[in-house]
Amino acid sequence: MSFDGVPYLNFTELARHYDFRIVGGKDSTRFSANGTEARIDVGFRTATVEGETVTMAGPALYLDGSYWVPVEFVSGHVRGLLATVLGEHPVLSRTTEPDENGEDVEVPLAFSAERVDGAPDPVLPVTDIPSTEPQSTEPPVTEDPDLAVINSVTFLQDLSAYEAYMNPTGDARDAYLVLVNKTEKVTADLVPSPVVKLNTDYTYNGRKVEMQETAAKAMEAMFKELFKAGYTDMHVTSGYRSYEYQVSLYNEYVSQEMADNKKLTRAEAEAIVDTYSARAGTSEHQTGLCADMHNLSSANVKFAKKDAYKWLCENAWKFGFVLRFPEDKVDITGYSFEPWHWRFVGRYHAYKIWQEGLCLEEYLETLE
Ligand code: DAL
Ligand code: ZN
Repeated sequence: MSFDGVPYLNFTELARHYDFRIVGGKDSTRFSANGTEARIDVGFRTATVEGETVTMAGPALYLDGSYWVPVEFVSGHVRGLLATVLGEHPVLSRTTEPDENGEDVEVPLAFSAERVDGAPDPVLPVTDIPSTEPQSTEPPVTEDPDLAVINSVTFLQDLSAYEAYMNPTGDARDAYLVLVNKTEKVTADLVPSPVVKLNTDYTYNGRKVEMQETAAKAMEAMFKELFKAGYTDMHVTSGYRSYEYQVSLYNEYVSQEMADNKKLTRAEAEAIVDTYSARAGTSEHQTGLCADMHNLSSANVKFAKKDAYKWLCENAWKFGFVLRFPEDKVDITGYSFEPWHWRFVGRYHAYKIWQEGLCLEEYLETLE
């Protein structure tokens, strides 16, 4: 893959393949080969090889559990490997040298601060030039290393036309963080603007479902990718709901509970319904920023067992969506687990919420 026009390769995969020792986490990791070491820091164009700082043609990235580095870092700083790019794909081969009997043997793999291919290290942009002050062993603090990951998401198809919707930036970045819950209410007259119809290819039996425009476009991108990944039975059953509709929905649920159990008082039935349906004015469906989606005939917790749900758990952040009512956050959200209810916040915040394993209430507290 390429990032900003620079070819990259999956360094974690390479390291596993050649049995490097790998120690570290998602921000910074040390790779060792035959007693030599390189430290890669995500988001940084500098790596530390054998204790020395070297520069790379682009920042180290962390995607789907792997470190990615520019191919030229490998050709330049890993002795014993030839790394080239063929079309879009990196090609690796071992280099050989004659032993004392004149037989060609593979050069042992080792990291080298001095470039092994003789090429100069890429020049850092002026703003990135490391200071000549004594350096601490900690990576320097940058504005936000997560941005390298957030801005280099890849898909199974070209979704670039949706990028601005999935990943709002500038002032728009924080525009989709509105909190609506049992205590943070919206007024009866709130209608999302603009509100648009979702492409009916993605709705249950082609029914009309509306969402706020940015969320709708991001949802369409997510459905294109879901379909491409093979989950063609997925559909949206509910998006924007008006205040009046939420009143009738809540009342229907209460009537249903009382019909199912004749002994219940209305207050008791309401207490049950309050665990799974919002009262009007407390549902984020009224913002048009969320949708119920699954591959069942109606929303059911059984969806959590489906592969499509697992796909969402791994990938929804890339489209700007988060699971709004996780199983382990019932005490905070006030609602039982809803594997089908996905909320748009934009990719930047969705990534952080996903990475940190938070629900929206918890995440918003971290921003205060
Ligand atoms: N089911 C969620 C809580 C809602 O009604 O908004
Ligand atoms: Zn919902």
